[in-house]
Amino acid sequence: MSGLFISLEGPDGSGKTTQIQLLQEFLIERGYEVVLTREPGGTDISEQVRKIILDVNNEKMSNMTELLLYTAARAQLVDEIIRPALEAGKVVICDRFYDSSAVYQGIARGMGVDMVYQLNEEALQGILPDITFLMDMDAEEGIQRKKKQATLDRLEKENLEFHQKVVEGYRSLAKRNSQRIKVLNATDSIDQIQKQMRQYLLRQIEK
Ligand code: TYD
Repeated sequence: MSGLFISLEGPDGSGKTTQIQLLQEFLIERGYEVVLTREPGGTDISEQVRKIILDVNNEKMSNMTELLLYTAARAQLVDEIIRPALEAGKVVICDRFYDSSAVYQGIARGMGVDMVYQLNEEALQGILPDITFLMDMDAEEGIQRKKKQATLDRLEKENLEFHQKVVEGYRSLAKRNSQRIKVLNATDSIDQIQKQMRQYLLRQIEK
């Protein structure tokens, strides 16, 4: 496997999407072939699963169903898009990946981080991110930003306590996986964040 797999993580409203687009431009300018994708979604089947997961009418969804649906959408994305792209030597940038399940389902829903990682490792068959950028920001601010943008989906409608667990969860995962996860301050300016990402990435690529 010769490609490079980058994921971006962070609480809702942390500005991942903007940074991903800028990062893509940077990599294309440097001559890399870049595949951009997002979770949950990124393939026809995964986008269908996404609709079920995020539908505000699905209040009855159990935690286990939610976890398995996210994992199913991800397994499909890996098989259809991510693995072939990496095998072809491309750079894959994914908006959220399995750390989202570790944090939202494992920690905020209380299902257990180790179980979530174990399940995902089975489902993903060795395709895991090489580099993960975490957009770190307090929960209150992320929710305020989201409310300004659009109607909230089923996960975004969770209470502040849930989102605080997400933020804390990410911080503890980053400590446990400091080799892979690079923490950025999501309240810095767009330019400052992008600059840090690019510098970090170049250092990692040159290693
Ligand atoms: P999305 O609209 O993609 O959120 P964002 O734009 O903030 O990335 O919605 C995805 C939601 O699903 C988001 O609230 C995080 C949540 N999520 C999980 O709970 N578990 C997961 O494994 C993934 C990938 C996302």
